[in-house]
Amino acid sequence: MKALVLSGGKGTRLRPLTFTCAKQLIPVANKPILGYVLDQVAETGIKKAGIITAPETGQYVKDYVGDGSKWKLDVTYIPQEPLGLAHAVKTAQSFLAQDSFVMCLGDNVTGQALSTFVEKFQKEQLDALIILKEVDDPSNFGIAQLDKNGNIVRLVEKPKTPMGNLAIIGTYIFSSKIHKAIARIKPSWRGELEITDAVQELVNRGFKVKAEILDSWWLDTGKKDDILSANAKILDEYIEEDVKGSISNSTIEGRVKVDREARILNSTIRGPCIIGKNTVVEDSFIGPYTSVGDNSQILNSNLEYCVILENVIVKNVERLEESLVGKNAKVTKKQNSATKLHIGDYSEVEV
Ligand code: G1P
Repeated sequence: MKALVLSGGKGTRLRPLTFTCAKQLIPVANKPILGYVLDQVAETGIKKAGIITAPETGQYVKDYVGDGSKWKLDVTYIPQEPLGLAHAVKTAQSFLAQDSFVMCLGDNVTGQALSTFVEKFQKEQLDALIILKEVDDPSNFGIAQLDKNGNIVRLVEKPKTPMGNLAIIGTYIFSSKIHKAIARIKPSWRGELEITDAVQELVNRGFKVKAEILDSWWLDTGKKDDILSANAKILDEYIEEDVKGSISNSTIEGRVKVDREARILNSTIRGPCIIGKNTVVEDSFIGPYTSVGDNSQILNSNLEYCVILENVIVKNVERLEESLVGKNAKVTKKQNSATKLHIGDYSEVEV
């Protein structure tokens, strides 16, 4: 079995950060989202992964993943124009050959291991296994309807009329039958070759297409608020107290990770939180669910529920909440009020 990890797309809803970064590389708890996806792929024991990249951001993805040896994966990069998920599979056809494969979106994270799904797919000799999760806003997703045995009977991409709330979360396992199904479908109204249409084609032709409902949380990190939620979830689940940097005249409460060469002076840090390497926090309060990247400076400021990337300066800001701050940005205070920001790399904001 192989893996196909989709790390292309334009990331328009995360501009301007995605002008200088692939959306899958935005970090939560100081690690790119794509890193968590590759961790899950590696845990299944799969050894060969194809990574779909976009022309604008492919190089950033290559710089991060390299040859994949960090995950013990043998990685092949497959450039693609963003023309749909089924188009991505089509583009990867020669890499995938006749093997079954797990397909994952590189910007979706879940709290559940992939291996249970892989086992089910293999044991039941399925042609497709689609992972679903109940959602409150079904018109934003691909939605599946099941019979009482868990077989998929119908799938619709972003349905306009109600047909249940079981969303396709972007984790799929396919046999090589999917390639013929893709060859038979036409682009949708949005001009894309939809994987939902290809799966429907498998269903129509009587192949074994089943679903599993995810037990854990699932986050699709396409927008700022999703990044903040994913950051909070990951900090909650994975961060343990681990202080490597230096602490002076400061209080560290709860599960806080302070990387090496970071310096915390005259400050309070309340976990779950992570402070990156070589970052300085001085005369500040850093509240729960905040990640501060490497080489940043948080000076005389209060932060809560924020994702701060690398090389950022936040100075004299009384209250910064629910903010995503891109690399090399500088945020300094002008007036006394809570501040909410969504700014990109190299921005400078005075508040
Ligand atoms: C894609 C799929 C959709 C799925 C969603 C999950 O949507 O087409 O079926 O529910 O990912 O994130 P897109 O991100 O292309 O809108």
